[in-house]
Amino acid sequence: MTGKWEETAPAFTVFPERKSWTLPNGSQSSSTITQQSHPSNMADSLQTVMDYAVAVARKAGEVVQTALAGDRKVMTKSSAVDLVTQTDQKVEKLIIQSVKEKFPTHRFIGEESVAAGEACELTNEPTWIIDPIDGTTNFVHSFPFVAVSIGFSVNKQVEVGVVYSCLEDKMFTARRGRGAFCNGEPLQVSEQTDVHQSIIATEFGSNRDPEVVDKIFCSMKNVLKLPVHGVRSAGTAAINMCLVASGCVEAYYEIGMHVWDIAAGSLIVSEAGGLVLDVDGGQVDLMSRRVLAANNRSIAEKIVKEIVLFRPPRDDALDHKQ
Ligand code: IPD
Repeated sequence: MTGKWEETAPAFTVFPERKSWTLPNGSQSSSTITQQSHPSNMADSLQTVMDYAVAVARKAGEVVQTALAGDRKVMTKSSAVDLVTQTDQKVEKLIIQSVKEKFPTHRFIGEESVAAGEACELTNEPTWIIDPIDGTTNFVHSFPFVAVSIGFSVNKQVEVGVVYSCLEDKMFTARRGRGAFCNGEPLQVSEQTDVHQSIIATEFGSNRDPEVVDKIFCSMKNVLKLPVHGVRSAGTAAINMCLVASGCVEAYYEIGMHVWDIAAGSLIVSEAGGLVLDVDGGQVDLMSRRVLAANNRSIAEKIVKEIVLFRPPRDDALDHKQ
């Protein structure tokens, strides 16, 4: 595979260096605007970003699929069960290299770059938030849910979200204000308002500290005992969020995942009509490592009451270098 990937959209010429950005809907951040922007240009630019992200995610997915056929050398990061492979690193490099060729001024938050010591800092600048393989443990075991997740943020707000579930060949996409789609078909969250008729997704994560494990199990037990129809774990935060967006599960919550796991998925859920909140029901903070994505407020409120709260170190405060 080469670093240059095909895309059909016109060349991307806006997004010059500056302190903040005016978006297609006219909103802007509070910091100084140094150059007047043109909303329709910005709208076109975001479409270019979206088209490029989709092309890059599809190529990345091909690399992941090819790698699944061969041996996978497994290494560990923050704990003995926080896995990484050479494919994670290779795919992230390919994505970043390719995006840099087209958008040289853009910034990146990539799971493996951050693990290698790069800053995990979300600024107002256009930023690509990348998880090259969400579901690395699944990938290692050939458990068939593995995703490439690419979010694109401006003014700290996710504007484009792309999650490619490689083995299912499902391309989930969203642009803020323009809806969410899977392989081009519109997505809509479930209309269920009765939590007892719901399926809830959550994850065990990769922290094996006994106190943390107890809290995670306590929350799960509380949710199960509501009762709900079922509790599920896809093994990837991004796909869990796409399941909420698709209406297959009513909610997904987790404490401990990272910004790259949920940036793209958070937009896909909200554009499918769902809510993305903190696990305490307040406003979500993508760096806080806590998320609740739900189809509606009624379900969200029921789940919030069952979650045992704790605060892991924030992504932008954590020393990720191993
Ligand atoms: C992990 C997955 C998993 C979640 C973890 C994440 P990774 O991401 O999203 O579902 O429980 O918290 O770290 O390591 O496979 O990219």
